[in-house]
Amino acid sequence: MKGIILAGGTGSRLYPLTKVTNKHLLPVYNKPMIYYPMQTLIDAGVDDIMVVSGRGHAGHFLELLGSGAELGVRLTYEIQDEAGGIAQALSLTEDFVDDENVVVILGDNIFGSDIRSAMESFNSGARIFLKEVEDANRFGVAEIDGDRIVSIEEKPHIPKSNLAVTGLYIYDSRVFDIVRNMKPSQREELEITDVNNEYIRMGEMTYSVLDGYWSDAGTFESLFRASELVRDAAME
Ligand code: DAU
Repeated sequence: MKGIILAGGTGSRLYPLTKVTNKHLLPVYNKPMIYYPMQTLIDAGVDDIMVVSGRGHAGHFLELLGSGAELGVRLTYEIQDEAGGIAQALSLTEDFVDDENVVVILGDNIFGSDIRSAMESFNSGARIFLKEVEDANRFGVAEIDGDRIVSIEEKPHIPKSNLAVTGLYIYDSRVFDIVRNMKPSQREELEITDVNNEYIRMGEMTYSVLDGYWSDAGTFESLFRASELVRDAAME
């Protein structure tokens, strides 16, 4: 399966840390942020990976990661000219993915779980990864009925559960047709939550609940917390 790391967007919530560099190059404990989603893919056995970044500082990703040879993977790069949303960034990878299944990870998501078995058991449709959190209103939130996902709401004022949709998704290649037929949201972005709700509507969405740690790192608080989680895991 091919892997995608989405590292576009503006990083505006981390200003002025992001005034002269890219969010995904900021430190999380002892490494640049993008190393963590990269390692999650590598640990799952993915070795053909596309990195999508914005225009600003795109060369820094090349300098940092190069061909991927040092990491034992093959890296390809794509530019998202404007921050048109996570699903729009994903749409840029269609030729690279080329009718295969694909695992997508957000460049500011830090995972402490092994996702290899979830990937290996994936056949078709879509799979998302949920994590219990205390501040669900900051995320996409899943409503669950037994084994079934009923819906996902993006940043709801009153969350229907405490299960956040993490920034890790597995899709079959129909995802690109779904994005093509989508309309931008109120914030003028193509939303990954709309993609996921379409798979739910088609009855083709499955989920796993993660037991390892998870954090995003896109706000001052979550960036700080991500560093603490990684340091605590390193000390164990
Ligand atoms: O962290 C998980 C959450 O990520 C999910 O629970 C939400 O459902 C999902 O919408 C997303 O929410 P955020 O509002 O936190 O996403 P954010 O705009 O911060 O973007 C997260 C990453 O996605 C960012 O680090 C890089 C990538 N991205 C984002 C945008 C808007 C792109 O590559 N291009 C983009 O245009």
